[in-house]
Amino acid sequence: MKIFQHVQDIGDLGQALAEAQEVKRDRFQWQYLGRNKTALLIFFNNSLRTRLSTQKAALNLGMNVIVLDVNHGAWKLETEHGVIMDGDKSEHLLEAIPVMASYCDLIGVRSFARFESREDDYEEKILNQFIRYSGRPVFFMESATVHPLQAFADLITIEEAWERRVVSPETMSPGASPRPKVVLTWAPHPKALPQAVPNSFVEWMVAAAAQSLPLGGVGGGLDFVITHPEGYELDPQFAGGAHVEYDQMKAFEGADFVYAKNWSCPGVTRPGDYGKVLDDYHKMMDWTVSARQMAVTNDAHFMHCLPVRRNMIVTDDVIEGPRSLVIPEAANREISAQVVLKRMLESL
Ligand code: CP
Repeated sequence: MKIFQHVQDIGDLGQALAEAQEVKRDRFQWQYLGRNKTALLIFFNNSLRTRLSTQKAALNLGMNVIVLDVNHGAWKLETEHGVIMDGDKSEHLLEAIPVMASYCDLIGVRSFARFESREDDYEEKILNQFIRYSGRPVFFMESATVHPLQAFADLITIEEAWERRVVSPETMSPGASPRPKVVLTWAPHPKALPQAVPNSFVEWMVAAAAQSLPLGGVGGGLDFVITHPEGYELDPQFAGGAHVEYDQMKAFEGADFVYAKNWSCPGVTRPGDYGKVLDDYHKMMDWTVSARQMAVTNDAHFMHCLPVRRNMIVTDDVIEGPRSLVIPEAANREISAQVVLKRMLESL
């Protein structure tokens, strides 16, 4: 694997999930792969989970790890071509990338959407320069449009929880479908957030449905529904073919998994509003996931990628409740990262 950006880069999802379980059984068995190899993790933005889980995954594989926070201690980087560099940016990305690449074997990059231009964000202007000029395998640690390490961890978490559910008949209601119903719901937030997490989650769920992925060892695929207020339609390159239900309560009916996330306007149906919060969040608080919505689900598990703003996205009782999967979901970030790094090491 030379690039990890989209669900297609991981190939067959059943195989990827099997590999994730193999990693879980003994995560240190491939230390020979990473011997004398270095992973460089470059952060243009803050992180807790991605920073720690990816380092841990690389260490599990016997690698050395270098972490660079571009905005803390490195020279400020210019990313635009052709500009006269007479401002506060001392170094251009076009020199910095090959220099950084000379010190490592694999590169992970986190660089969020800037919301200055939809075109620049959706063309992945920053990450594509790393792919083009580094000569190294590049994995996306949340870019302007995708967060595949998160989506892979989410899929692992759904598969594990569904397996526990289908093997325990007492937790399955009579006549229940062996295909889980998974709902992605928009939830309110005071600030404009990127679309990377929902884009990737949708992309991976659509692929799992298309591949009729047997979850929990039974059935084929899943039923997937997206719910959000009008104006927040996700880009069709990710959400094409997914069912959208604008009535949140209707979407939640019979759900087995509820995945909550805020995202700003993707500019699909409202091109002039790209990256904006469309309505004052005070008016949108009935979208906060609470016991009211969870009551119409099939005792659904609650999921969120974290960090989460409590009592904005989800109420305390739901996130602290017995159906919350937010901690195992975060723990699975180590596993998804390890599968990806292992495949990249195997392809060097
Ligand atoms: N979910 C996630 O990527 O968390 P961090 O932003 O803390 O890395």
